[in-house]
Amino acid sequence: MNQAIRERTKWFMDARFGMFIHWGIYAIPACGEWVMSQREMTNEEYEQYFQEFDPTAYDPKEWAKLAKRAGMKYAVLTAKHHDGFCLFDSALTDYKATNTKAGRDLVGEFLDAFRAEGIRVGLYFSLIDWHHPDFPKYGDRHHPMRNQERYKDAQIDFDRYLDFMHGQVKELVTNYGKLDLLWFDFSYDDMRGETWRATELIQMVRKYQPDVVIDNRLEGSGENHGSIATAEPLIYSGDFASPEQIIPPEGIIDENGEHIPWELCATMNNHWGYCNFDHEYKPADMLIRKLVECTSKGGNMILNVGPDAKGRIPKESVQILEEIGAWMERNGESIYGCGISEIPKPEWGRYTQNADTIYAHVYEAPLGALPLYGIAPDRLEKVYYLADGSEMTRGEAWNTVLFQDVAFVSLGANPVFTYPLPDPIDTVLKIKIKKAAGCVREWTSLPPFLAKLFYSKSSSTGQ
Ligand code: GLC
Repeated sequence: MNQAIRERTKWFMDARFGMFIHWGIYAIPACGEWVMSQREMTNEEYEQYFQEFDPTAYDPKEWAKLAKRAGMKYAVLTAKHHDGFCLFDSALTDYKATNTKAGRDLVGEFLDAFRAEGIRVGLYFSLIDWHHPDFPKYGDRHHPMRNQERYKDAQIDFDRYLDFMHGQVKELVTNYGKLDLLWFDFSYDDMRGETWRATELIQMVRKYQPDVVIDNRLEGSGENHGSIATAEPLIYSGDFASPEQIIPPEGIIDENGEHIPWELCATMNNHWGYCNFDHEYKPADMLIRKLVECTSKGGNMILNVGPDAKGRIPKESVQILEEIGAWMERNGESIYGCGISEIPKPEWGRYTQNADTIYAHVYEAPLGALPLYGIAPDRLEKVYYLADGSEMTRGEAWNTVLFQDVAFVSLGANPVFTYPLPDPIDTVLKIKIKKAAGCVREWTSLPPFLAKLFYSKSSSTGQ
C-alpha cells in the first residue's frame, strides 16, 4: 500500500462505522434495487416508477440525526444505482429526481443535512446503467435485456456511454463541494479497469477532489479486490477493499504482507433497496459484535438502510440503530481510532487497540478471575469498565500463580453474579498497558515459592 492511500484513508479508518443508504424509484416495487434486472423489465415498463415517485416524507435531517445517534461517522447515498435513475440534478439526463414529483435535488439535500451533523459524506455511483441506450444489453451478465434477441445485433457506442458516465461523475465531484468518499459499483467480466477508462476517470476525480477516499470497484467487486491487494496498486485501485456481506477471516493483507484498509458493506435485512416483505433483520447485539469484529481485524463496517418510497427509513432499522447507538455512546472509544491489537484474539471475546490502550470485548463470563490472555502481569497498569469508567480490581490470587504469564482481573467475587456480564452484548474493559520491554516485574511474576507468601487462600475469590 502506498503512502498516499495511507494518508487519505486516515480519517476513514478511524471512523470505523458508516451508514449506507440505498434509495431510488425501486422503493416503489419494494423488492430491492435489482428488480429491473430480476424481472427483465424494459425501460418503458420501469418508467411507471419514475412517474409515480413522490417521496413526501424525505427528511435527510432526520436521517442524519439518526446516523449520529447510532454513532456513525460517515454516510454514503446512492446518487445513481444500476437502473440509471439519478437522485441528483444531472444536466446530462432527464432521468432524475428533479423531474419527478419530488422536484428536488435529493443528493444536495442529503449532503447538506449530514454535513450539518458533522458526518462525513460520500456518494455511491453505479458504473452500470441499464437505462442508457449505449450500455451493452444482449449477452451482458446483468442487463434487464440480456435475453432479448432483438438487441443481439444492436449497435451501441460504448464510448458515448463512457463520456456520459464520466460527465456525471464530474458533475458530482464539481457541483457539490468537498466529498469525503466515492463508492463506484461495480466491475465484472470484461467490464473493469480501462474498459471504464478508469485512469482518465480517476485523474479527473483527483483533480477536483484530491483527498476523496475511493472504493476498489473500478477494478473489483465483492468477488475480486483488484490491484489494491497487490504489491503495486494501479492508479484506479481505489483506497480500500469492499468485502460484501462477509467479514474477511483475517482482515485483508496485500502481497507485501501489509494490512490494507477495508470496509464490510452489509445489509440489515437481506436487501439493500427497500423490500416490504423482508423482515429478517439482524439484531442489534449481533451487529455490534460484527462491528467489533471488523475493528479487531482492521476494517470498517458500513451498515445499510433502505428508505421506502416515501423517504422513511424502515422502523425496524431505526430501532436497531437506536440500540447500537446506546452501546456506542458508552463504548465507542473501543471502536473509533482502534484497530488490530498486538495481542491475538482471546477465547472469551476480542481485543481492539488504540496505541497503548487495549480494549477487551468480553462476551463470555469467566468462572473466577478473567485471564487477560497475552498480557503479562507486569505489563498491566490499570483496568476499567469502559461503560462507566469504574476501576477494576486485579484478579491475581493464590490460584493464579500457576499461570504466571497472564494477568487476571476480577469481575466480582462470585461467578454467579458475573453471569450474565454487566453488558450481555459486549462488556468492554479498558486496559492500560506498559510499553513492552524493560518493565519492572511485579505481581505474580514472582517465583512461585515467593508468590505463595504473598497470596493466601483467604483471598481465594479473586478480589
Ligand atoms: C452489489 C449490488 C448492489 C449494491 C452493492 C452494495 O454490488 O449490485 O445492488 O448496491 O452491492 O455493496
